[in-house]
Amino acid sequence: MNTKQNTYFHGSDLEKIEETYGIKKEEIINFAANVNPLGISYRLRKELADHLDVITTYPERNYLSLRTAIADYVKDDFHHIIVGNGSTELISLVIQSIHPKSALLLGPTYSEYAHELRLAGSTFHFLNLKEENNFTFSEDDFKAALTPDTELFVLCNPNNPTSSLISSAEMKNILEICKKKHIFVMIDETYIEFTEHPETDTAIPLIREYENLIILRGISKFFAAPGLRLGYGVCGNAGLLSKMSMYKKPWTINSLAETAGKIMFLDTEYIDDTRTLISGERKRICERLDECNALRYYPPHSNFILLRILKKEVTSTMLFKAAILKKMMIRDCASFDALGDQYIRFCFMKPEDNDRLLDTIFEALSK
Ligand SMILES: Cc1ncc(COP(=O)(O)O)c(C=O)c1O
Repeated sequence: MNTKQNTYFHGSDLEKIEETYGIKKEEIINFAANVNPLGISYRLRKELADHLDVITTYPERNYLSLRTAIADYVKDDFHHIIVGNGSTELISLVIQSIHPKSALLLGPTYSEYAHELRLAGSTFHFLNLKEENNFTFSEDDFKAALTPDTELFVLCNPNNPTSSLISSAEMKNILEICKKKHIFVMIDETYIEFTEHPETDTAIPLIREYENLIILRGISKFFAAPGLRLGYGVCGNAGLLSKMSMYKKPWTINSLAETAGKIMFLDTEYIDDTRTLISGERKRICERLDECNALRYYPPHSNFILLRILKKEVTSTMLFKAAILKKMMIRDCASFDALGDQYIRFCFMKPEDNDRLLDTIFEALSK
């Protein structure tokens, strides 16, 4: 167990914040959860409400119509799609099904992969992205980190918390190396729709070429619906999909999430609005940060940014406190083993909120 994690607040720890700081959770602007600030779309709100009666029946056992809607969205075949109760259920099912003797994780990264590997009794180690390389991927380091026991490589693209991106050309090389060594690759693309060019950044077209690949995604972040619990996997390996289905409990995606999925992926207006907002804020925030020499940021490719505090006497916990006292919650990255107490992460919210957060951080750094 990583006991370090228990002393810090995660994006979903609003109740803990309420208790510790006496701030009502509804009043907190959550810069730590990486959720689209637009909230759910008007179309989803209306159409889902109109379909409330779906809860009077069980969802489809094989989720055929939902899987077809997802397949249309990702431009693949519905046979390649598996749905889950958030990508969290699928991370667990992939690891249970592959049950690797040993896994390699590209870090620092989201903690759930290591958690599931521990539960499965697998050994694992991290290949940490290097700060001096802006946390970008190095194929040489990757090749050197593989061992004869490695059976699974887990990576998140763009990566949480670094917001760094592996290009599809680099991804193809990774897959080729892994294929030759009989290593399965799990890519978590939870944040891929926020990149500048999601159509070419995604590894989904590689599904047809590589049977040692599964890509996981969810609707919690881009579609701003973490409470619905809907995730999906795209995979061309029929054997793995049937093993995952065997472990999977029936109906883990409820009828409301099933219905929502059939609405949200068609909502091109919301998708475009989100991309315009995030792309604009990403650029604008970097420009403002360029003016501050007490912080270093790493080029962000998603809807969040990782920063290093360059003033030795200021810690990530101090900036966390300065922001939360103004009802803004950022992610103190001290809980990431490979980072430590000089790193913070925040996601892009509405322009006026982003400005208020930057003003607060700059003020705390100027003291
Ligand atoms: C990289 C990554 N993957 C998966 C998840 C969980 O997603 P879901 O809500 O789809 O289970 C998160 C949540 O923070 C995340 O950051």
